[in-house]
Amino acid sequence: MNQEILIKTVQRLVEPGKGLLAIDESFKTCAGRFEKLGVPNTEETRREYRDLLITAPEIEKYVSGYILFDETIRQSTLTGESFVSILQGKGIEVGIKVDAGTVDFTGHPGEKVTDGLDGLEDRLKEYKKIGATFAKWRAVYTIGEHTPSEECMKANAEIFAKYATLCQENDIVPIVEPEVLMDGDHGMERSYEVTARNLEVVFDELKRALVFIPGMILKTSMVLPGKDGEVAVYNKEIAQNTVKCLKEKVPEVIGGIVFLSGGQKDEEATKNLNAMHNLGPLSWPLTFSYGRAIQNPALLAWAKNPNDVITAQKLLLQAAENNSLASIGKYEDLINRVRTSRHRE
Ligand code: G3H
Repeated sequence: MNQEILIKTVQRLVEPGKGLLAIDESFKTCAGRFEKLGVPNTEETRREYRDLLITAPEIEKYVSGYILFDETIRQSTLTGESFVSILQGKGIEVGIKVDAGTVDFTGHPGEKVTDGLDGLEDRLKEYKKIGATFAKWRAVYTIGEHTPSEECMKANAEIFAKYATLCQENDIVPIVEPEVLMDGDHGMERSYEVTARNLEVVFDELKRALVFIPGMILKTSMVLPGKDGEVAVYNKEIAQNTVKCLKEKVPEVIGGIVFLSGGQKDEEATKNLNAMHNLGPLSWPLTFSYGRAIQNPALLAWAKNPNDVITAQKLLLQAAENNSLASIGKYEDLINRVRTSRHRE
């Protein structure tokens, strides 16, 4: 493991004012999103859509790294330039999702563990040759009366530790993504309790396995009420709870923390990140690694009119800029500026 390489990659990924764009949807997730919009789910439509996301002009002003799927890291534009070389040409880090999705956790109905350690070392070596400098591994936890269980949290944490160790041995920055799902009608308190306990379990295992914490990134869900609950919660409350939880449970030396959007409304994800940066100084770089919250407007526009790539790319750029502003606590400023100039008109 070369700690210097890992730290330099982390620093590029969490450079102030920038964040990550996740476009690593699996075949199944992609099928779900495309089918809802009447887009056929084929290798070529996935290539075409990812092409517009990767070639969007000026996206490098706001995005430091793209997380790709195995199919995408091997694809090219119609003129034959590989997606990887386009990203590298813009100074954007290439990341790769390396988990193989979730499977049932035996003996624990409704709980999942993440698969994909088999052959991981060889795949990491191959991805590195192709150009990847960081990787992502996601585990999911559903909040229920008796879930997530300690056993499930521990099993996923042990897997995270093996994955992160293999990445770092190959000088690839591991992103560890424990996602507490929004499904359910639980309140903020329960979300806090589960997120906090799970982070404890995850970092205990990472430390036990001697993972180099400054050379990794945590990708986490925010502390949010369940999406089926009825209580409205202010952005500030989400921000305060999330930051408190992270301050308590994440080692200060971590390279960076990024968020998934997890099905929040696009602007909510942006406002919550913005609110966190208005709480005062934070101990670690804190930014976005959104999929849906950045892609949604572009995907909708492209699905309606696949020939108008320029409009879809402008929408992508706008969403990326909004989140870039949120990552330095300036998102509201932009809204205010727009309002002021409208007044003047
Ligand atoms: O693993 C999840 C993705 O990388 C982030 O996607 O922002 O749509 O939840 P999301």
